[in-house]
Amino acid sequence: MIKKALLTLTALSLLASAAEARTWDEIKKSGTIRIATEGAFPPFNLMKGNQLTGFEVDLANALAQQLGLKVQWVTQPFDNLLIGLNQDRYDFVIASHGITPERQKAVDFANPHYCTGGAIVTHPGGPMTAAALKGKTVAVQVGTTYLQNVSKVPGVGDVKTFPKDTDAQAALLAGRVDAWVGDKFTGLDLVKAQKGKLVQGDLLFNERIGMAVKKGNTSLLKELNAALAKAMNNGTYAKISNEYFGQDIRCH
Ligand code: ARG
Repeated sequence: MIKKALLTLTALSLLASAAEARTWDEIKKSGTIRIATEGAFPPFNLMKGNQLTGFEVDLANALAQQLGLKVQWVTQPFDNLLIGLNQDRYDFVIASHGITPERQKAVDFANPHYCTGGAIVTHPGGPMTAAALKGKTVAVQVGTTYLQNVSKVPGVGDVKTFPKDTDAQAALLAGRVDAWVGDKFTGLDLVKAQKGKLVQGDLLFNERIGMAVKKGNTSLLKELNAALAKAMNNGTYAKISNEYFGQDIRCH
């Protein structure tokens, strides 16, 4: 698994130099910005019927509006998102990517648009701490910081990866794994929806989440950071965050 993650990153770095990303001036002139997300990571990005929605979708739409741009959304499996970015299939990605040194070798991140962490969810009586994961089977989404961090837990049993986070959750619900590790806010919603059947355990790690642009696309990065700062100062960010979480989830 770790070997596979390394290969993916090497592939990303190679692709980084392949073509030219659209600069801010080119995007502005076209009038439309192309944004990619997964659309399967509630409550951050998800499909409601055939409508793309979620905290990050609303936030990115608000940023584009501030920048005077129309939006063309693209959905891709999570594991393909940064590869597609480096192939110039879209201008930026907003899909709850944790800002990690490995990813920073492949892409450039905007200032974080929220802070969160990876937490354990299990059945009542199941493993609630990192120590309790010893010998246990854990479900995680492939290509994520959950996989990276769970793999480092000493003595952890089988780590099963799923293309979609919602499938990893389903494996826990079906009793095929002992625990699921995922976003702490997603976990809270899951536990609430399954009243009494699941419980949330310890937070395993914290992370800052950022939008990604192609490496070296500094003109776009500057505009995204300015738009995000403005949304954070004019109440737009707080309003969207409160709708989804009942709180402001920006980094402090
Ligand atoms: N925050 C985690 C990471 O950085 C998970 C992100 C998953 N995002 C998604 N759209 N499925 O890897």
